Amino acid sequence: MYSNPTALLSGDHSILTQYALSTILMLGLLFLIVDRILGIKRSDAEPHFLPSGVPYIGHVIGIIRRGVDYYDEMTAKHGKLIYSLAMPGGRLYVVNSSEHMKSIEKAYREISFWFIEASFSKRLSGISNASDRVLKANAEGVKGEASLVVDGMKATHAAMGGQDLHDMVERGLQRAARILEELESDADSASGPASHCLWSWTQHVFSLATSSAVYGPGNPYEDLAVEQGLYQFEDSTMLFLSGLPHQMFNRKGFAARETIVRAFTRFFADKSDEQASQLVKNRAEVLRRYGIPENDVARFETVNGFGILLNLLPTAYWTIWHIFSDCTLLDTVREEAQAALGADASLKDKRCVDAAQQLPLLNSVMHEVLRYNTTGAAVRRVMKDHVLSGQFLLKKDSYCLVPNKGIHFNTDQWGVNARSFQPDRFLKGKTNRESFRGFGGGVNACPGKAFAARLILTIVAALVLRFDIEPCTESGMLDHPGHDESSMAIVVARPARKYRVKFVRRARREE
Ligand code: HEM
Repeated sequence: MYSNPTALLSGDHSILTQYALSTILMLGLLFLIVDRILGIKRSDAEPHFLPSGVPYIGHVIGIIRRGVDYYDEMTAKHGKLIYSLAMPGGRLYVVNSSEHMKSIEKAYREISFWFIEASFSKRLSGISNASDRVLKANAEGVKGEASLVVDGMKATHAAMGGQDLHDMVERGLQRAARILEELESDADSASGPASHCLWSWTQHVFSLATSSAVYGPGNPYEDLAVEQGLYQFEDSTMLFLSGLPHQMFNRKGFAARETIVRAFTRFFADKSDEQASQLVKNRAEVLRRYGIPENDVARFETVNGFGILLNLLPTAYWTIWHIFSDCTLLDTVREEAQAALGADASLKDKRCVDAAQQLPLLNSVMHEVLRYNTTGAAVRRVMKDHVLSGQFLLKKDSYCLVPNKGIHFNTDQWGVNARSFQPDRFLKGKTNRESFRGFGGGVNACPGKAFAARLILTIVAALVLRFDIEPCTESGMLDHPGHDESSMAIVVARPARKYRVKFVRRARREE
């Protein structure tokens, strides 16, 4: 427009003013458009909004770069137990206090986890649009209205106690017993024990024990491709949720998920569910009652693998690792287990399960594992405007995030040693369990916690009594493998570094 720049420099003020004015107007207009698209209307009643280096997108960049640790860093920097992060077009409320978490738990319909579970299901499982509509209808569970999510949860809880729980645990331990027997004969062989990757071995043993317990004789996870498919599926969670085309961005994840879907389609077609646990029967019954077709029943069961297995496996791993990497702790746990179960604890002996649940130190270790190795966050959707704890306005359609580390590493709750592993922390009377989020809490508390604890405690007790672990590492020690916190699907970190170990029979070693 102004082809002669000297006109601007030569003191032609009217042109200069016009130019400056139009630039300011253009910038102002641009700002309004950007603010309209990315900005949000804040209220003083909301939790304090934290500033960000880059306007509008600074927090998004932080979260992409740092993951859940970003919230940890923001909390440490600003010292707030609850705060808001402005995001393009919305806000995220971050909660780091068990008090406010309790308020969230009480308002479970207004601040909903079930809505989140329902919203993520289609992209993750690949169910049809019709099934997705049924799933999303009243997902937050407005009282008196039909809700597949709520009825599914009720059916789940109903199957996870009493005789049903007992039957499941027994079946799982029978499967684990076979694996430990194989491990013993391998250790006794002339060539000596073979080496195993500790993480893969733990995944395999606990995955087979848990899935046999749940799915019975037709267990699809007996097929290694299905077991490993679940791990690939887990690693691809974000790609599924992003909605990017599978063919271009998520070929491996998609192939893995479809392998599991095919296995579960066969499982239901063969009527293997009739011999499975009450959990599988109850959940399939609710889905069918709501008119979900059989191919989508298989897809729902595929995603259930996340809940049933993915947190349990790292919990088992760290319980084994923390005990076997600390000689003093190993000796004490052994003494405790031997006194209650006898030196030759057999997983086939039904009394073993009850005895293992009564071992105070082993129990404490498993809870400390869940506290100390925690990762991830509880996520909730605000369904309508809500005043949390009578203090903070949370706006409809926003998300609430409760990072587990924020609560598990809070020194006011856990003391100055909050960031270190204390095996005896959960011994009776030694700690306040109020802030323990390992299995969640309130109406959304984990229905699988008793089942998971029984399997882990009993199998680890048998392992401790019957084996020593010899590390095949350069240091000759069970080095700390570090935390892999990349999975979005779990609340317990996976080990970052994998290494091999040998399981040596205790009796043989002492000869
Ligand atoms: C050590 C193993 C496990 C850990 C650490 C664990 C952890 C958790 C946590 C922290 C929550 C709450 C999530 C939240 O509030 O945002 C939860 C919920 C849930 N867990 Fe587990 N879990 C384990 C095993 C299991 C098993 C074996 C099952 C199988 C039945 C299971 C099924 C579920 C379900 C269905 C929910 C959702 C409950 C609801 O929305 O009302 N979990 N789990």
